[in-house]
Amino acid sequence: MPLPKAELHLHIEGTLEPELAFELAARNGVELAYADTDELREAYRFQDLQSFLNLYYELMAVLRTERDFEDLANAYLARAAAQGVRHAEIFFDPQAHLARGLTMGTVVEGLWRALGRSEENHGVSTRLILCFLRDESAESALETLRAARPYLDRITGIGLDSAEVGHPPVKFREVYEAAAALGLRRVAHAGEEGPPEYITEALDVLGVERVDHGLRCMEDPALVERLVRERIPLTLCPLSNVRLRAVDNLADHPLPAMLDAGLLCTVNSDDPAYFGGYADDNFRAVDETLGLGEDRLRELARNSFLASFLEDDEERRAHCLAEVADYVF
Ligand code: HPA
Ligand code: ZN
Repeated sequence: MPLPKAELHLHIEGTLEPELAFELAARNGVELAYADTDELREAYRFQDLQSFLNLYYELMAVLRTERDFEDLANAYLARAAAQGVRHAEIFFDPQAHLARGLTMGTVVEGLWRALGRSEENHGVSTRLILCFLRDESAESALETLRAARPYLDRITGIGLDSAEVGHPPVKFREVYEAAAALGLRRVAHAGEEGPPEYITEALDVLGVERVDHGLRCMEDPALVERLVRERIPLTLCPLSNVRLRAVDNLADHPLPAMLDAGLLCTVNSDDPAYFGGYADDNFRAVDETLGLGEDRLRELARNSFLASFLEDDEERRAHCLAEVADYVF
């Protein structure tokens, strides 16, 4: 039985396995530019974030109906449950779907058909986080938040993803202020490919409570000290960092140094269908390659529940933390 954990950095569109992509393409009469699943997997050789994003957006074409989003989410939740995930805070990218002519309702209600029943069906509690695409305009982000207004009972928070460099957090000040006024929780990708200054800006200008990736904080000792002092969680994604070449190889990953520095690190899967592993695959990879050991693994699992947005269900958080404390390796 895998270590119980929360998944806090997971793009639902990044869980689209080639087999499901072909199934949905056939169901919806969508032509894919690949002959079969082997050829598609061959395309998963990324040079950087942008080369991944190009394929990630291309494959979304197969997602057309509520049922497609429901099937995508259920496939993920079943895999997550098998990997010890008890709680998942799931990102989605509505702008990419609205641009293809879908409605916010199709996306959110489709996902909700799976998420709303996930605790009973999969033993995984869930939250939904709406991400803005940072390479789109600030105006588009505001419009997207407006389109989400009827669905805010389904949405816990907002995030910021897609191409980072050249799109600093400050560009989204207004939409983050509007989201805060609506009572939404705030996170943002920062310091994956972008510089440490983007992390500081996400904290100071956007008011984020948690930083997605945050890897490059290690270039700025004063920032590390601040993140430690303020107990800001970082949602690290080790296998993603290798595939997108944020690190040369897993053995060079700064996770051990980050834990030694006292940072509140969590380990997550980002886009598991593309990066070669779900939550526990990431845990096992860092354990095997970086020699973390049982205490560090338990700390990472504990951190994942501490960093989660379970303030509205402290009973579940306590239950999950007890499971981590009692876990026998
Ligand atoms: N980084 C930025 N944007 C993304 C990612 C990522 O890893 N996955 C999906 N959108
Ligand atoms: Zn991500």
